[in-house]
Order: sequence, then C-alpha cells, then structure tokens
Amino acid sequence: MTDWQEVDSQYYMQTIVRVPVTLVRGEGMRVWDDKGKEYLDCVNGLAVNCLGHCHPVVVNALTEQARTLMQVSLWYYNVPMLKLAELLVKNSCMDRVFICNSGLEANEGAVKLARRYGALNLNDAYEVITTYNSFHGRSLAMTAASGQEKMHKPFVPLPVGFINVENNDIEAIKAVTTEKTCAVMLEPVQAEGGVNIADDDYLQKVRDWCDSRGVLLILDEVQTGVGRLGALFGYQLYGVEPDIMTLAKGMGGGVPVGAVLAKEKAAVFTLGDHNATFGGNPVTNATAYATLKYVIENDIPGNARKMGQYFIEQLQTLKGKYSFITDVRGKGLLLAVEFDDDIADKVVMGCLEKGMLINKLKTNAIRFVPALIINKSEVDKAVKILDEVLSGI
Ligand SMILES: Cc1ncc(COP(=O)(O)O)c(C=O)c1O
Repeated sequence: MTDWQEVDSQYYMQTIVRVPVTLVRGEGMRVWDDKGKEYLDCVNGLAVNCLGHCHPVVVNALTEQARTLMQVSLWYYNVPMLKLAELLVKNSCMDRVFICNSGLEANEGAVKLARRYGALNLNDAYEVITTYNSFHGRSLAMTAASGQEKMHKPFVPLPVGFINVENNDIEAIKAVTTEKTCAVMLEPVQAEGGVNIADDDYLQKVRDWCDSRGVLLILDEVQTGVGRLGALFGYQLYGVEPDIMTLAKGMGGGVPVGAVLAKEKAAVFTLGDHNATFGGNPVTNATAYATLKYVIENDIPGNARKMGQYFIEQLQTLKGKYSFITDVRGKGLLLAVEFDDDIADKVVMGCLEKGMLINKLKTNAIRFVPALIINKSEVDKAVKILDEVLSGI
C-alpha cells in the first residue's frame, strides 16, 4: 500500500501540518480513509461541502455538465454562468455578479472594484480598512488585507492600501478613515481568525459610517455565505446590506468557485477591467447553480439555524461539565470551543482516533463547520465523541 504521507513529505511543498490521515471517499456527513476507517466529518472541506460529500444534486450537475461542455472563454456567453448569476442576484440584495474560482480571487475582485469606485467617485481614494484577526485569503494583497501579523511578516513588503484596525470597534474605523479611504471590508463573523462574533449593532454602525463618508462597505461572506450562519447570507441576520459581497466555499457544494456581487452603484468595472480564464466555467457554475438552487428550495439555511442552535446548546452542556472549556461560541453551523490551555492538537487527535474530523482553530480552540444538512443524531454523535475525548484529558 502506498504511503501517501511519505509521498507528501517528499514531493509536496510543506505549507501545513496535515492531520495524519489520507481521505479517499465521502458520502453525506461521513468520509473514509485509505484503510477503510469511517469518520464523522465536522471539517467538511473547511466549510465547503454545504450539502455534504457527493450529494447527488451536486454530482449529477457536475457530471452532466462535464459530459456536455467543460470550458469556454469569457469571450462567449455560456448558460450555466448566466443562470448562476441570475439566481444569485434574484436571491440577494445585489444587482451584478462576476464569477471566479476561489475566496481570495473574489476578494481581490472586490478590492479592485472598490479602487475603481474610489478612482471614479472619491478623488482616487484607494485605501481599504479591514480588521485585526480577519482572514481574506493568501494572495499578496489579501495577505495585507488580513489583519494578522504572522501572515504579513514572511512577505514584506506587502502591497499598500490596507489598514488593519481593532475588530468590533467603530471608533477605530472612524479614526483611520481619511480622504484616501474607498472601502471598509469585514467578515460578518470572523471565521478563520477565531469565530469572533461582533456586537449586534456593529455592522449597522459601520454601514452608517460608510454612508456618511460615501465609502463602500464590502462584506467578505466567503465562509459565512450560502447558509452557514443560518440565513442564506450573513448580512440578512444583521439587517445591513453591503455594497459589495464576496462568496466562495459553500457556493459550489465542493467545486472551486467564487463570486463578487455588487449593487449597481458599486458595479463600476468597465471593459477590460477584470477577467479570468476559468471565471464562469460551465462545469463549476452548473454545479454551483444546482447546489444554490437546492439550498434555497429546501431551506438548507433553516436546517443550519436549527441544528446550529441545538449543537451550541449541547456544547454549552459540555462547558458546564468541563471547567477547562472557557468559551463556546458561534452562529448557525460555524461553531468554536475554546480551552484554557493549548490542547487543540490533543483534542483533534483524540477525535480522529474515535472517528471524527474536527478543525484546530487555534492552539487552544477547535472549530465545527459541518455540512449544512447535518441532522440531530449526527450532532449527538459529534458531541458524544468530543465528550469522550475531553473526559480523557
Ligand atoms: C472569510 C474568508 N475569506 C477568504 C477566504 C479565502 O478563500 P480561499 O481559500 O478560497 O482563497 C477564506 C478562507 O478560509 C475565508 O474564510
């Protein structure tokens, strides 16, 4: 039997400490490794497979389109891309879409759009304000946008035009807003940076401030969008509409696809400003269309809301039982458990042994981002495994 971990160490760039398991198959909430062991998957491709692994709706759309037409250039119209664009607009507060391939690419597009808006309407303003502990992707510009020192350090000098400030602090945003500011960019819930939930009125305050200064509000919904928080889009939970929104992760049900959406006033790209070879790719777009349609028609965000509520209640019960759990937080099915010590690795490995994948969020915290179709007995199973692991720590 091939030792895939050995192949990884010999040939692959070592950019991550992988959990020592090679996954070969998935179905719904479950995955199997190359030795046939089954796991309950609460990592879910990192908040991606919103309908679970290999959902028939996703697989059928993908395979049917792959047999029909895989790739055409953006120089031509293609039906899956346009059906997806229409579906996104009709189900959001946005007017126009550009479809790309990943979260960072969507955010790059959003920032380019904001800079064009600044050039056209704000005297060449180009700065984008973002927050500490945000995560917007791994390109050089998105590294600068992400308010995390450890991401910046290895890659200085970084592109200019990004100012990171304290999260959940409107005064911090006000303090750095100048005539150079073209946008504020936020995640409705900071996901990678710790599952940090802002105060209920924070987004509204930022919206009001942006309006008073005429600058744009960009919401990075790459992780929170498409049902993850218990609403189709996170902004709906806060009653605040962004000018630009980005999506990826859950949008394709497992295939790499992302989108920049904008209100008409912010959709200022003109001919030649932005494009991508694989943008609007028929295979990924047909898959995303089928996924999103299923999510909407079957109220999958409603299940995320209900199951998320039940899940967090069960985790709160564990918090009552184990004094070393210092916090349980989250919204919908984006949940974190924090400990008073750096035991996340131990917990991840303990869960792996007992047949569950969970994500190490920080050295002292774990994250649950299961498929949005998770049911009550699967939540019970996840909490039972975690309970067993914690009882041995
Ligand atoms: C909020 C947010 N924005 C952007 C990204 C980057 O997306 P991608 O990894 O698809 O480039 C992520 C990925 O975790 C994310 O959570």
